[in-house]
Amino acid sequence: MTTGLSYFLMLSDAVIITDKNHRIMDINPSYEEITGYRREMIIGHQAGILKSGLTPKNTYDQMKKELTNNQAWSGVFINRKQNKDLWHSNITITPIELDGESYYIGIFRDLGDISEGIYVSETRKSKIQNEILRVLALSCEIRDPEIENHLFRVQQLTASLLREYNEAHHSKLSDDYIQHVINASIMHDIGKSGIPEGILYKPGKLTFYERNIIETHPLIGVDILNKISHELNDDLFRQELDISKSIVEFHHEKWDGSGYPHRLKGNEIPFEAQVVSLVDVYDALTSRRAYKEAWPEEKVLDYLIEQKGSSFNPDLVDIFVAMIRKSK
Ligand SMILES: [Fe+2]
Repeated sequence: MTTGLSYFLMLSDAVIITDKNHRIMDINPSYEEITGYRREMIIGHQAGILKSGLTPKNTYDQMKKELTNNQAWSGVFINRKQNKDLWHSNITITPIELDGESYYIGIFRDLGDISEGIYVSETRKSKIQNEILRVLALSCEIRDPEIENHLFRVQQLTASLLREYNEAHHSKLSDDYIQHVINASIMHDIGKSGIPEGILYKPGKLTFYERNIIETHPLIGVDILNKISHELNDDLFRQELDISKSIVEFHHEKWDGSGYPHRLKGNEIPFEAQVVSLVDVYDALTSRRAYKEAWPEEKVLDYLIEQKGSSFNPDLVDIFVAMIRKSK
């Protein structure tokens, strides 16, 4: 071990030094203390002996890619201690050159406070959130066999519109916000679970009273979500639930203030609700429903253009119509 490398072993974090083939050259006392391995037990072995098999393959792929390009890499490993217990740690691996030789310096931070759980990456967290919200939305609207396709299309169109909008507005929206809105968009009509079927699927025109009952669905939806967020008082879902609530409550508001339930105007309507309101109407009109035939696409686009500034945010209509035309 050259003197230059031995300085790294003096750090108070757990440190492992390997050669460029990931063969362990040394570890420091902190590493020994956390993992239970003694230097003489693992020096000379491949670093792979520490693996638990629980770190996602993707993590190793990213690590190899960065290290091959001579870049430092940080990520989360789930390794095993000498006694076979799992060890969750955040590691930064830095490639260095000393005296013409290449080495990797791995500095670990123990994630002790989640050591009894499972580390969930942001991508996986988003997938779990999306799946739970999808199941929830479907179970609330199970009476309509067509609803799954509608909800899926609304979600896809929301994703496309948000990305187009962001491109047109120099990435004004964060990736996290976009993903939360996409995940939450599927929830927009959960309040319909509280509306009697006879009214919900009535062919033909609704009476004044029936329309009033339908128009309670945004507030019924908020009520359902309030109960869920009370039970699921968890950071994992807080942002998704807040955005879901906003979409559920405001997706029937109109730009000119003539919508329901609060008659909000313009940008008083949360942006995520403006987006879902537009794609929801587009998909409803282009689809066949119990009470109406599907409209031809051009007729729907003309209708949306006509509703610029009355029902919808004009800027969103322009971007959406251009996007649909471009896709044909
Ligand atoms: Fe609705």
